[in-house]
Amino acid sequence: MPSGFLPRRAKTFVGLDIGTSRIKMVELAVHPESVELVRAAVEPTPPESLVEGRIVNPAAVAGAIKRAIAAGKFRAGDVFAAVAGQGVVVRHAKFPNMPAEELRQAMQWEAQKYIPFPVEQATLDFTVLPTEGDQQTTEVMLVAAKSELIESHLQTMELAGLTPVAIDVQPFTMLRALRHKRPGVPESELRDDDAVTAYLDVGAGTTDIVIAKGELVKFTRIVPIGGAMFTKAIAERLGVGFDEAERIKIERSRLYRRGEEMDADDVPVSEAMSEVAASLALEIRRSIDYHDMQPVSASGGDVKSVILAGGGAALRGLDAYIGDEVGLPTEMSDPLKGIIVNPRIASKWDVQASSPMLAVGIGLALREVVD
Ligand SMILES: Nc1ncnc2c1ncn2[C@@H]1O[C@H](COP(=O)(O)OP(=O)(O)OP(=O)(O)O)[C@@H](O)[C@H]1O
Ligand SMILES: [Mg+2]
Repeated sequence: MPSGFLPRRAKTFVGLDIGTSRIKMVELAVHPESVELVRAAVEPTPPESLVEGRIVNPAAVAGAIKRAIAAGKFRAGDVFAAVAGQGVVVRHAKFPNMPAEELRQAMQWEAQKYIPFPVEQATLDFTVLPTEGDQQTTEVMLVAAKSELIESHLQTMELAGLTPVAIDVQPFTMLRALRHKRPGVPESELRDDDAVTAYLDVGAGTTDIVIAKGELVKFTRIVPIGGAMFTKAIAERLGVGFDEAERIKIERSRLYRRGEEMDADDVPVSEAMSEVAASLALEIRRSIDYHDMQPVSASGGDVKSVILAGGGAALRGLDAYIGDEVGLPTEMSDPLKGIIVNPRIASKWDVQASSPMLAVGIGLALREVVD
């Protein structure tokens, strides 16, 4: 039967990013020539319900997801989610060339060397990376997550009435959103495949660092510094509670560059934030230096620029500060590049302004589109 007369419904995908401070949910409709953001919601995560990436209070988080579903008018159904935090590790390892099945076995035996928790309690996955030059060895990227962490996510989504169809690892998801590969963005506007770039997701609890050449991941690290640490520093300095400090940070704080003269009124808050920013920038610098020290066959070359995502990156002045300290051009990401924002959403909130926070959710919803 010819189906050409029937309007074909676009395929839609939902990405759910359960962060330590905010739950982000997005739905993308994929048309042949374009991608459209059709639903979006951000909802606070109940305090202390995630510990190192594990959901310790599934019922409370499921409640918050349900509020996000209601606020964004999502339908219950399939979702893509991602895990992150200290219970997730990504390691690069080299093995002598061997057949795929042997490699899989070798990974099981060798994995413990690379991960900081018992391998029996971990869920493992690995990808063979294409190597440049050296043909004697196989480079493998090993991803391990504590199984209890994955289970806590599955349980929470089920309690919220959702059906998890895949669980990704956040750092890779961010890369998918920030490289701009999707219908609607011409090849020429993709992030340059030859340039090595450091992508940062500054969350509340952690900053995920991914260094990649095109879509090839060269280095990943999760640093336990994020937006909440800035808030805590303000709270301690001013002797106020966390919520009040969070409000001050978002509404009227500013991070000054090193050596820049501060407005007298800004001094206590900006000084408190500078200490946190200095340790974050140091960890970023160390990661980039470590990457750049590796032979070019492994590193792909030196990092040329830094791209920021995550809610924590919205801190006024953080981009300039990191740019100075790291000594590389640093800019805010645009995960919505080439994506049409449905007018229903656009009329309600400035989704473009919050888009760096939506990077992981967008990357998840693009999972079936880009890979
Ligand atoms: N305008 C703003 N200025 C400064 N900080 C902001 C702003 N908006 C959000 N934040 C901070 O961003 C953080 C939340 O960002 P995000 O939602 O990306 O984190 P998360 O995903 O919940 O955390 P994690 O990834 O560590 O689990 C909070 O620390 C919040 O204070
Ligand atoms: Mg996050």
